[in-house]
Amino acid sequence: MNEVNRQWLLNSRPSGMVSEAHFKYLETDVPEPILADGEYLVRNLYLSFEPAMRGWMDDEPSYLPPVELGQVMRSTAVAQIVRSENPDFPEGQLVQGMFGWQDYALGSGRDDMFPANLIPEGVPPTLPLTIMGGTSLTAYFGLLHIGKPTPGETVLVSGAAGATGSVAAQIAKLKGCRVIGIAGGPTKCQWLLDELKLDHVIDYKNEEIGDRLSALCPEGINVFFDNVGGRTLEAGIDHIAQFGRIVLCGAISEYNNASPAPGPNNLMNLVKFSVRMEGFIMINYMDKIDQAFADLGQWLADGKLKWKEDIQQGFDHIPATFLRLFNGANEGKQLLKLADPR
Ligand SMILES: NC(=O)c1ccc[n+]([C@@H]2O[C@H](COP(=O)([O-])OP(=O)(O)OC[C@H]3O[C@@H](n4cnc5c(N)ncnc54)[C@H](OP(=O)(O)O)[C@@H]3O)[C@@H](O)[C@H]2O)c1
Repeated sequence: MNEVNRQWLLNSRPSGMVSEAHFKYLETDVPEPILADGEYLVRNLYLSFEPAMRGWMDDEPSYLPPVELGQVMRSTAVAQIVRSENPDFPEGQLVQGMFGWQDYALGSGRDDMFPANLIPEGVPPTLPLTIMGGTSLTAYFGLLHIGKPTPGETVLVSGAAGATGSVAAQIAKLKGCRVIGIAGGPTKCQWLLDELKLDHVIDYKNEEIGDRLSALCPEGINVFFDNVGGRTLEAGIDHIAQFGRIVLCGAISEYNNASPAPGPNNLMNLVKFSVRMEGFIMINYMDKIDQAFADLGQWLADGKLKWKEDIQQGFDHIPATFLRLFNGANEGKQLLKLADPR
């Protein structure tokens, strides 16, 4: 075991683009689990990076409280239990939880806000953070419970080469839809065509989204699964079909704006074409998680879902790895490896 617990703390709140300077490195003692509190000590193996973490850095009301200044940066991780005073969390087991940007963290099994889950024996450690993790559940719930695509409909997915978008696009294909993906750059777009078998792609860094949608969707878009917001959302609303559904999953193009961007200027289309636009948070659908895992697990077993893991290395590299989400450097689900299980 390391002598110290390395940590990255939130040092200041960004106004605009997040940078490495907003985090501060610290070394502290490795904490001891307390018997009376049923605590266990974990060693982090893989950290997971989510665009939503940028929002947790702001002192604003949201579905989770902000990370306080001076606190360890919050993040999901897969870890191994290295010492335990809790029989439900035995030593040696892998566990997924909100363990943060540090080597070691304490759990107690009593954290209602971020309950930790034991990972069954034999499951690869990255799987609960990638294709069988929160981004896939988000894609599943958003697309199927809000978008409700039917066979033959046209589905547009932005952020389509990312962890969430790539699964939303594949589920739409599995449901018999014609799927158009928007992503940045030729490499990501080619992967969407060659590997995920999308019907069309739009490279928003090199093409005008509106022009391409006019050419590709003369009948309009039936379902728009939007991860990007801003001008991308506006372009989708411009081409929405009658009775279309717009799933607001995220708005990554806006997370680093110092002040809110002007809203879409074409919301009257929702009225004119009887369109429903609905935002959601994945945790709203926890009562449906068993069915979601059953379906995702079946598609995975049948070889019908593909995914990419972008695994960075090194504790020093944690803040820089987070920034990759916002410049599009990540190819697939962004992770960072800290250690192998023992
Ligand atoms: N509602 C929920 O419960 C929930 C849960 C999880 C995630 N989400 C949302 O889902 C979206 C995707 O998250 P993820 O974890 O799957 O990340 P991801 O898509 O794997 O990675 C982020 C991607 O966003 C794209 N991007 C970054 N800045 C952009 C910009 N200014 N304009 C357009 N695209 C930009 C980049 O792809 P390109 O190279 O293609 O630009 C980047 O690779 C985010 O909006 C996130 O907040 C929502």
